[in-house]
Amino acid sequence: MKFNFPVETLTNINTPFYFYDMELLNATLDAVASEAGKYGFKVHYAVKANANDRILQAIESKGFGADCVSGHEVQKAIDCGFPSDGIVFAGVGKSDWEINLGLDNNIACFNVESIPELEIIDELAGKKGKVAKVALRINPNVNANTHHYITTGLNENKFGINQWDLEKVVDVLSVLKNVELEGIHFHIGSQITDLHSFRDLCIRVNELQKWFVSRQIMPKVVNVGGGLGISYEQPDEQSIPDFESYFALFNDLLELMPGQELHFELGRSLVGQSASLLTKVLYIKEGVQTNFAIVDAGMSDLIRPALYQAYHKIENLTSADEEEKYDVVGPICESSDCFGKAVLLPKTKRGDLIALRSAGAYGEVMANQYNLRTLPKAYYSDSI
Ligand code: LLP
Repeated sequence: MKFNFPVETLTNINTPFYFYDMELLNATLDAVASEAGKYGFKVHYAVKANANDRILQAIESKGFGADCVSGHEVQKAIDCGFPSDGIVFAGVGKSDWEINLGLDNNIACFNVESIPELEIIDELAGKKGKVAKVALRINPNVNANTHHYITTGLNENKFGINQWDLEKVVDVLSVLKNVELEGIHFHIGSQITDLHSFRDLCIRVNELQKWFVSRQIMPKVVNVGGGLGISYEQPDEQSIPDFESYFALFNDLLELMPGQELHFELGRSLVGQSASLLTKVLYIKEGVQTNFAIVDAGMSDLIRPALYQAYHKIENLTSADEEEKYDVVGPICESSDCFGKAVLLPKTKRGDLIALRSAGAYGEVMANQYNLRTLPKAYYSDSI
């Protein structure tokens, strides 16, 4: 699918802004629901990828659960209609008020990352006369082969309980009265495009399951996290990720015990291709090797290129002239405020409308007000 919205409608809107293709979002959600549904797998959408109300409502309306990593995300999910028994709460550092919020709302599960956290959840649940359901987040030491900032499943990462501590955790669990083991949880990283990493995860999970069985423990839920990547290079040719192969792999390789449920926490792959950040060219400035196209969006609106050297395809929607190379940069006082170097674009001039593609995940939600800029607005293809 080409960026196919009538450009005239967009040129009159003040830039920069996020533009959501609701049709593509819905088609993507339908694809996930149907592929996961084939095997009875449950998907909790990772709210951190995009917590925009309209997007959350669309996701909720398709029957997905929510995977939250802060009290405010839990509250937002509830406000957007997610039933509390479809909400899981993860994160290495949950504050007491956040745990209490989860307890008060009877959320489905706390994904627990350490013994001290387990003990605090037990204590707070006890004070409320409740029993909290918990899943142990286990660090599987599987390499996700992705950017090191978004690799989470290696021993050196801060996430999860290391395998050599499991014995101790299981002992602690057996004496705590106000927590109940619901499942085991894994997440190896994000923007994973090579399915081999998920195969490695399945092998590790199968081994760990045997460890639990040998101790007569049968977690009801196995949660393998998220991480499926999207094509930043070819947003039109691969607008919907290959959910079919992804879920089939888990179905083929993961050895579930009878009655066990398999859960996923996908974020990026559900929402990533559904938005572009639209920005206008302010100035063309002559450079030494390439000219600069200075646009009115900056790293405060879309931080991924500055933070992870992430690639977002850049398109000029209003010029079809011969191509030239530009460094596409924002107005912020940092050299890292650059969306792309030596980008081939049709000859570009002041006022041209530029699209930074594949910005639906970790785009709007990571926007900030650095340089006291205003937060970018959002517009939607079905209500513009
Ligand atoms: N579950 C857990 C425990 C996670 O930590 C994450 C993402 C997810 C699920 C969802 O992963 P996804 O399906 O979206 O890959 N800001 C970075 C990505 C950070 C991902 C953090 N954890 C970026 O812009 O690339």
